[in-house]
Amino acid sequence: MLSFGPFWILVFLVIFLHQPVQVMAYNNGYGLKPFLGWQSWCAVGKCGTDACYDRQIRSTAKAMVDNGMKALGFEWVVIDDCWHPSRDSNGTLIPYAPYFPNGIKPVVDYVHSLGLKFGLYTSVGTLTCHGGWSPGSFGHYQQDADLFARWEVDYVKVDWCGANKTMNGHINISHALNQTGRPMVLELCRGTYEKLDNWGYASTIAQVWRANGDHHDSFSHTLEQLAAIKGKSNWSAPYGWAYMDMMMIGGEGCKDNPNPDKPQHCPQQTDHEYRTECALYSISASPMMIGTDIRNMTKVMNECLLNPEIIAINQDYLAKPGFQTKSCGDDAWVRKLSDGTFAVVVPNLGDKTDAVNICFADIGWPNITALVHDVWSQADIGISTNQWGAKIKSHDTLYVILKSAPPPVGCTVTCTTQISKRECLYGKTYGCFNETQSMWVAGGCRGTFTCDGVQNVNCSSSGEKNTTCPCSKPASATIQWEQ
Ligand code: GLA
Repeated sequence: MLSFGPFWILVFLVIFLHQPVQVMAYNNGYGLKPFLGWQSWCAVGKCGTDACYDRQIRSTAKAMVDNGMKALGFEWVVIDDCWHPSRDSNGTLIPYAPYFPNGIKPVVDYVHSLGLKFGLYTSVGTLTCHGGWSPGSFGHYQQDADLFARWEVDYVKVDWCGANKTMNGHINISHALNQTGRPMVLELCRGTYEKLDNWGYASTIAQVWRANGDHHDSFSHTLEQLAAIKGKSNWSAPYGWAYMDMMMIGGEGCKDNPNPDKPQHCPQQTDHEYRTECALYSISASPMMIGTDIRNMTKVMNECLLNPEIIAINQDYLAKPGFQTKSCGDDAWVRKLSDGTFAVVVPNLGDKTDAVNICFADIGWPNITALVHDVWSQADIGISTNQWGAKIKSHDTLYVILKSAPPPVGCTVTCTTQISKRECLYGKTYGCFNETQSMWVAGGCRGTFTCDGVQNVNCSSSGEKNTTCPCSKPASATIQWEQ
């Protein structure tokens, strides 16, 4: 008999390590669901010219509570590369005094007092990414992690700039955060993992990782972010989420010298494009961190960020993230939700208003009919057979949920055997108990039976007469009504 020696341990490890890594996503208590929150960087200036101020961060956090976002699950307030720290003679990071005259800690305390969580930014290399102004954490991983823990930071975004940025740096910074004993989310913002299969080591050390370069305020950037996660939806799972960068919904900030007390948007896209951005972030289970000024909610921001269905689909952590497929020849994103319904996004990527369609069979919907529910209006639209479509404006999107259609009023199916004559319940699998295995459908109703015997039998019933549908051998049968 073989003993369980080193050879078998090796075999076991080889097999084990080839299992999907998402089941091993690193769990430090955060990230059961995709993160919902706000990040500075494009909010009070154009992307890349942002600044951040004590009072601005406070009023943004307050707005998240007052405008209803918190009630829907938004809870992260993350300061990006704008707090411009320097180091004192001990190497301790000192926030830029004109922006944070009392330091970072009182701001963290204020954010916490609202029941929200606070995040801060650094870089794995020697410098942050903003014009080389600020020191990164290289050479100070433990010192900075300890400082963040003392300030009671909950989330650390680690960028990829300056010298000495390496995969080992990522691993060491994760280790340093763990050493503090304070659970903190680690966001990897670009790095070696991006080029590795299935995000490489990211899910073993971080709870969130950027899928790509920056998402700025343009539709082509949204599509680039999507391209970066194409085919990789399986690799986002509880405790580890691929992130398409901040959402630009409503439009980036204005001017190069922003006024932190005057929330403004200078949108570079149409509201149709922001709706598409919103739908795609929602269905693909990307963290939805808003990069624009939520102190001034525009119409489309309300439509997206305060829509409980859009948020619930994004947060459905028991279901796999949506995947890209083709439906009636169009690009579609589909997410099988944990209640058995399907969320479907089909954008019109063309330049003109056009019809977009969902072909039920193409996306794996198991029934002939579906009750189509519109996510934008949060209302049922109607029951459709085989497919459903609508006219959609250029760069706008269809966002629907397919649900099982209820039976048409008055339509019943009955097992016809003498022994077990009874009404069969709609939507259930019916058992037929005699040799003939027949059922009948009430007159005037159209249905299709599928008997799963040796030979499957389809039997359609139409017209005014009751129709008998035989199964070839003892089997169970299902019916789908046509409307
Ligand atoms: C990089 C990141 C951005 C932002 C800036 C800050 O470009 O990708 O998200 O953090 O740096 O300098």
